[in-house]
Amino acid sequence: MWGGRFAAGPDAIMEAINASIGFDRRMAAQDIEGSRAHAAMLAAQGIIEPKDAQAIREGLLTILSEIEGGPFEFSTALEDIHMNVEARLKDLIGAPAGRLHTGRSRNDQVATDFKLWVRDQLDAADQGLLALLRALLAQAEAGAEWVMPGFTHLQVAQPVTWGHHMMAYVEMFARDRSRMQDARRRMNECPLGAAALAGTSFPIDREATAQALGFDRPAANSLDAVSDRDFALEYLAAASICAMHLSRLAEELVIWSSAQFRFVTLSDRFSTGSSIMPQKKNPDAAELIRAKIGRIFGANVALMTVMKGLPLAYSKDMQEDKEQVFDAADNLMLALAAMEGMVRDMAANRDSLEAAAATGFSTATDLADWLVRVLGMPFREAHHVTGSLVAMAEGKGCDLPDLTLEDMQSVHSAIRDEVFEVLGVHNSVASRISYGGTAPVRVREQVARWKEILG
Ligand code: ARG
Repeated sequence: MWGGRFAAGPDAIMEAINASIGFDRRMAAQDIEGSRAHAAMLAAQGIIEPKDAQAIREGLLTILSEIEGGPFEFSTALEDIHMNVEARLKDLIGAPAGRLHTGRSRNDQVATDFKLWVRDQLDAADQGLLALLRALLAQAEAGAEWVMPGFTHLQVAQPVTWGHHMMAYVEMFARDRSRMQDARRRMNECPLGAAALAGTSFPIDREATAQALGFDRPAANSLDAVSDRDFALEYLAAASICAMHLSRLAEELVIWSSAQFRFVTLSDRFSTGSSIMPQKKNPDAAELIRAKIGRIFGANVALMTVMKGLPLAYSKDMQEDKEQVFDAADNLMLALAAMEGMVRDMAANRDSLEAAAATGFSTATDLADWLVRVLGMPFREAHHVTGSLVAMAEGKGCDLPDLTLEDMQSVHSAIRDEVFEVLGVHNSVASRISYGGTAPVRVREQVARWKEILG
């Protein structure tokens, strides 16, 4: 493969550690797209004959259909996707194949292929997130005024609306989407033509290849172009944050679908049974989504570690950049699709949510606020009075609305009958009309805003 320089072939172990064809074949389409653009540019610049470029471009299309449709023999001896494609091109068209590699190197070639691949994944994640956002919005719209407990420390804190809780995830996943979009804008510079590291003496047109491949511009420094992998790291970072968000929603679905909560019923389509316990319906998809963060964040750490301390420009270490990204991308897309399906299908149990919302003295803050608003009490004193009333209710084994007016007045004589109005969960959520608050009126505004944004 290396022509005149080598007398003996590689040891089998050398071949095994060196080869990347086992995984980088996933970039075949990108490799061929890049080579076709390069060949067209070489001809346009008068560097190779138009008829050779024509033969190269047609041969490459044949190879693409062979790889996608059927019989293509990948060879480990040919190391990677770039050499496999080039060798096959030589079989197909003969001598002109040897002109394709003019003014480029595998270093700019692999950087270009990988960027094209990661760019597709940024777009795919963007679309996957959009579908999930739509599913969450539909849930929020249906249950904008359903009442449920809001938690802190997983202890009942204050009543919130189902719609509000769903919309919290809309905000998170929308930020994930914008991270994918930001990364795409920043990474969209073309490495092709940086050659091995220093550029080339051939009169290439990097603007032309950049444009043909959908890049905004050529990368401005050839050393950086062949040795930068931060585009992949940004994708993994955005994917990790997204997977972390998915894991939080997944965890809530696991808790909510348990017999102790019964907040939601997951569809049969996204549940599994037990081989021994006939009554079981398990939220396996949610648990697996919850776990995906492990491998996705693992990929982020792995690539960061591979890249750390590498001197400029290309080192073979960088061949270790791909497998983890492929795995992270496959699993992120699967997790997004599974979450979208689960959210779309799940049925919130309105009665269980409302019953739970009224437990745990969830309207104690409403009571304290009433003492401030109506009796003019300083908040700290109101907090103390309310605390005494909660302790009293707890002692009697009841909730705040179950106390009598006399009970209340024994703690503070100025309390009046109208206080009971603020102790109901519906009044509680309806009163939280501050911007971003849980009141149904605010939730509906946010649903409308996001429907407009998502189109
Ligand atoms: N298979 C290699 C990779 O993925 C292609 C680049 C090889 N470059 C080199 N200088 N040996 O990184």
